Amino acid sequence: MKSRPTILLTGAGGQLGVELAPLLRAHGDVVAASRATLDLADADAIVAAVRGAKPNLIVNAAAYTAVDLAEKEATLARAVNARAPGILAEEAKRIGAVLIHYSTDYVFDGARTTPYPEDAPAKPLNVYGASKLEGERAIAATGARALTFRTSWIYGLSGKNFLLTIRRLAGDRDELRIVADQIGVPNWSRTLAEATARVVSSGMAPLAERSGLYHLSSTGQASWYEFARAIVGDVARPRVVPIATSEYPVPARRPAYGVLATHRFQEVFGFALPDWREALQRCASEPPTAPKA
Ligand SMILES: NC(=O)c1ccc[n+]([C@@H]2O[C@H](COP(=O)([O-])OP(=O)(O)OC[C@H]3O[C@@H](n4cnc5c(N)ncnc54)[C@H](OP(=O)(O)O)[C@@H]3O)[C@@H](O)[C@H]2O)c1
Repeated sequence: MKSRPTILLTGAGGQLGVELAPLLRAHGDVVAASRATLDLADADAIVAAVRGAKPNLIVNAAAYTAVDLAEKEATLARAVNARAPGILAEEAKRIGAVLIHYSTDYVFDGARTTPYPEDAPAKPLNVYGASKLEGERAIAATGARALTFRTSWIYGLSGKNFLLTIRRLAGDRDELRIVADQIGVPNWSRTLAEATARVVSSGMAPLAERSGLYHLSSTGQASWYEFARAIVGDVARPRVVPIATSEYPVPARRPAYGVLATHRFQEVFGFALPDWREALQRCASEPPTAPKA
């Protein structure tokens, strides 16, 4: 094999992709694809992109992530989140490449009150979660050498996310009413990208040997209300008020509990991600602009 691997990165303009691109460059020649250059809803384009780039590693950071809109756009969500990962895995297998893919805590129904292990029965409550679960299964069905990292509540310094929304609203509202009965773990996109790059740094063969499904997440847990309070800080204005999910109706149902147990990842890769509050503090001390993909 070439001494320096070629890495095909999809979704390079997304929250995670933007953070992955510069970090992966330390470990290989990165071919960064955004939706404009590779539309994952186009099966033929995926095949052509992989055959053209001939990567040793594919990192699929692209996904249809509009959870509420997915209820109306199920066909598109499934094409991007279910069919595309299967094609990427099939193509990876054909050329002996490794695939890294990301999935979500929304594959679970949230009925548990203790962290979900990887083998807990999945039962998505919404179209997005179902499409992501289908993607996981499509990858596994190919028998490709693939690592699927389930994570949760991603935020970062670019894109559309809870951190930036709360920061913006905090600037012009006296009161923020935030859901307090959904529990999960906020994850900074940088932390997830750093963990991915660390895993990749082992080289392709050790990576391939560690194929499988892993929960990749910061530790600790929070409600959206607690997350908002941590973002806003200890200030008198805006007042952050806890509300029930029923007081904030949205098209897609969310799991009430989505904390992922991360023991498997820690045992296999030998490190853990920081507590979410520590990661948030680090993120908050960063300048507001994100690195370019
Ligand atoms: N966001 C979360 O809270 C969360 C939680 C758990 C797991 N995850 C998973 O983590 C991974 C990374 O998520 P993220 O937060 O970085 O998402 P994101 O910020 O929404 O980025 C997703 C990227 O995928 C691209 N994309 C969408 N449709 C596409 C298509 N048809 N073809 C090619 N690219 C397309 C988007 O491009 P455009 O910008 O042009 O739309 C965007 O750049 C995904 O697998 C996601 O399912 C996310």
